[in-house]
Amino acid sequence: MALWLWSCLVVLIILFVQKTQSQQVLTCNSSPKLKFDHCNELPKLGSVLQWTYTPTKSTLSIAFAAVLPSADGWIAWAINPTSTGMVGAQALIAFQEGAGAVSVKTFNVTSYKSIEPSEIDFPVSNMSAEVVDGGVMRLFATIKVPPEIGTVVNQVWQVGAAVEGGVPLVHDFASDNLNSVGTLNLTTPSGSGGAVAGGGDGGSKQKKRNIHGILNAVSWGVLFPVGVILARYVKAFEFGDPAWFYLHIGCQVSAYAIGVAGWATGLKLGSQSKGVVHNYHRNIGIALFSLATLQMFALFLRPKKEHKLRIYWSVYHRGVGLSIIVLGIINVFKGLDILNPDKKWRNAYTIALIVLGVVAVVFEAISWVRFIVKKKKSKRSSRNDQTF
Ligand SMILES: *[C@@H]1O[C@H](CO)[C@@H](O)[C@H](O)[C@H]1NC(C)=O
Ligand SMILES: *[C@@H]1O[C@H](CO)[C@@H](O)[C@H](O)[C@H]1NC(C)=O
Ligand SMILES: *[C@@H]1O[C@H](CO)[C@@H](O)[C@H](O)[C@H]1NC(C)=O
Repeated sequence: MALWLWSCLVVLIILFVQKTQSQQVLTCNSSPKLKFDHCNELPKLGSVLQWTYTPTKSTLSIAFAAVLPSADGWIAWAINPTSTGMVGAQALIAFQEGAGAVSVKTFNVTSYKSIEPSEIDFPVSNMSAEVVDGGVMRLFATIKVPPEIGTVVNQVWQVGAAVEGGVPLVHDFASDNLNSVGTLNLTTPSGSGGAVAGGGDGGSKQKKRNIHGILNAVSWGVLFPVGVILARYVKAFEFGDPAWFYLHIGCQVSAYAIGVAGWATGLKLGSQSKGVVHNYHRNIGIALFSLATLQMFALFLRPKKEHKLRIYWSVYHRGVGLSIIVLGIINVFKGLDILNPDKKWRNAYTIALIVLGVVAVVFEAISWVRFIVKKKKSKRSSRNDQTF
């Protein structure tokens, strides 16, 4: 059972890593410093939005950059004044038409099925687009945002692989394509929210993000799984009892302490990043904190071994534990996507996980062999008892 779970987990992780690795990610640091007040690395599709909002004219100037899925592809950026998804989006879509010319058109998206160029709710001027090195397309526009829709607007962005008859064809349905929505706080003071300017503030923010990443990767991503392995496999050996218990508690309590520190830095970062909200990462983080806190109670609520409630406690403890491990690992990868550090960090973490997986699988096998040998022995000895 546990063997099966671990193998599934390892396979899932490898798939997940390969999927996210194949995707090229644009960052503010690697983007040309255009004349905009803000630069936001959008949480999906590796895209970047540079923007300036002029409250006196209520105009929003943007440069949206994304990697084209194919040379004949399209990229889109939209404000959705009525909901958070694609339907209702007042979209700007850029694609290549004919030989080399890139055009931008407006689309009032009314359904998921098909779209066609149309007027949109907002006046848009100075639309243009370009394709630059590495298959990156960049879309420029100035949008007059009606003050009625407020200063925190829903933004939606997308990329697709093909265009037919001047109309973009439907995009992929990978998780990135389905979750490329967020909000944009137009009144974010310039210089924050991932602004382009590489001033001192940006540096200290990056440092905080790195600390957040390291604390959480160590805690949720490594120590918690190690604690589970300790409990499960050290217990199997005679010398391991009751040492496993203290090792397990020591490991999980320190993981929890580090995890809470990491979580707090995350909350701080979240409150400072007004422009873009990383909803999934944040929600998984909150779920993790709640589950881990619940798990700390397991220590105090533990019934005696012989108690009839012990079995229920055991199911709850293991269930919550497994959820923490799975969510923890997923959230470390989500965090890596957002932080987007050197590839070597992702690789190092993946290798650490594979090592843990292999250790778990080997110990699982050893404990099965020991279990079977023990059973045979006890059978034989009971037979001997009868003959004497
Ligand atoms: C966009 O579509 C919606 C729904 O069909 C419609 O109510 C709205 O008037 C359209 N906007 C424009 C500018 O045509
Ligand atoms: C549009 O572009 C022109 C020329 O680049 C510029 O003079 C004008 O101010 C722009 N308009 C807006 C609304 O940004
Ligand atoms: C938008 O940003 C402003 C300025 O930083 C802030 O006061 C406001 O609370 C933000 N709004 C939201 C919904 O985050």
